[in-house]
Amino acid sequence: HGVLDYGGGDAGGAEHDGHHAGVDISTLTGPADRTPDRRFALDARAARVTLASGERVDAWTFNGTLPGPELRVRQGELVEVTLTNADVPAGVTVHWHGVNVPNAEDGVAGLTQDAVRPAGRHVYRFVAEQTGTFWYHSHQQSNDQVRRGLFGALVVEPRTAAAGTDLVVLAHAWSTSHDDRDGWTSALSVAAATPSTGTVRRQVTPGTRVRLRLVNADNEPRVHALAGAPFRVTAIDGNDVAGPTDLTGRALLVAGGGRYDVELTMPAGPVQLTLTRDTNGRGSPAVLLSPDGLGELRHAPPGDVLDPAAYGSPTDLPYGADSAFDRTFTLLLGETIGFYNGRPGQWTTINGGVYPDTPVLAVAQGDLVKVTILNRGFEDHPMHLHGHHMLVLSRDGRAATGSPWWTDTLNVAPGERYEVAFRADNPGLWMDHCHNLEHAAEGMTTHLMYL
Ligand code: C2O
Ligand code: CU
Repeated sequence: HGVLDYGGGDAGGAEHDGHHAGVDISTLTGPADRTPDRRFALDARAARVTLASGERVDAWTFNGTLPGPELRVRQGELVEVTLTNADVPAGVTVHWHGVNVPNAEDGVAGLTQDAVRPAGRHVYRFVAEQTGTFWYHSHQQSNDQVRRGLFGALVVEPRTAAAGTDLVVLAHAWSTSHDDRDGWTSALSVAAATPSTGTVRRQVTPGTRVRLRLVNADNEPRVHALAGAPFRVTAIDGNDVAGPTDLTGRALLVAGGGRYDVELTMPAGPVQLTLTRDTNGRGSPAVLLSPDGLGELRHAPPGDVLDPAAYGSPTDLPYGADSAFDRTFTLLLGETIGFYNGRPGQWTTINGGVYPDTPVLAVAQGDLVKVTILNRGFEDHPMHLHGHHMLVLSRDGRAATGSPWWTDTLNVAPGERYEVAFRADNPGLWMDHCHNLEHAAEGMTTHLMYL
């Protein structure tokens, strides 16, 4: 079968697109019998961008900005996005992370479409059925392209949007050594919500309802510490949750690729959001909200990380741990050192294998599927399933203490064991991979395949 962008080669799916620059490869997909409610244009292009550190870097961008434009739509709208590629040599795609689009709209090079070559274009269409916080990113050589800037936020608001201040905080640390595959993870030069502006300051009137949409566009989990006001988490990965309401001083760990929505009522003083790599880190203030747009809170170490198992779905669950499952799978995550395809290195593995020698999740449409995920390695693995939501049934053999919660990107820490369930209700060929995209490129990738 075709080479994926995760195949480990240098050209990846681009070699297999079968098209030449300048040829119009637009396709008409999604519901074609409706006029789109919203139209967007994303143009992938190289651009020089100034980071918060003052450093100027060569990024790959959508529409010249880092991150790309924030796309905001309403539930039920038919969204049409025209992707063009000005000059990204390996080609690009757009994947709608967390949105259960039809398979043909999923934007995975080599799997659901060809990479869009320079001067090419591709049209995506889907109905935004789920509300919540999502993001989009290129899924052609994702490890390189997301790292270098080809991503942005996607928000689907409910039909009647809530009043107040609604702000996306998209975390992404720039690596300055993007040409040095081995050294880049240790070469973070900035960790800020928006690399181009540093701390975002917003003037917010006391009493205003504030919703912060936290998106982690990095490979590693990020600790988000919110100080200055009690807050509550209203959604995880775009799915509403019910849980503790006064989280004063608690920290939130957002998986690489994951999202948390938090809400608070603006107090009389400033509110500060700080991002760190771990609970000991000093981090950088990412967002400052205050009644006069001024002021700063002293750095306070982030409190204990909130356990998402303390949350649950506020709605009735369609299935649970006691359900009869049609298929069960086990994914054993780990690392191995050695040669693979003649290349030496450290490889992240599923059931001991490196993609494509990883187990395929083969299902029939309608199946209720249970997947047990164990991390036997020493790094976090944020496992992301395309096209479906997973219901978290248990962790380390214990049922969630609240009730199960829904996720599309589940951080599996070293030693952890999760059971998740999903209904196979979106036919196609889907990716299931670690969203530490470096790990995905190292082989921690598999497919969900409908028989
Ligand atoms: Cu956010 Cu397979 O991707
Ligand atoms: Cu991983």
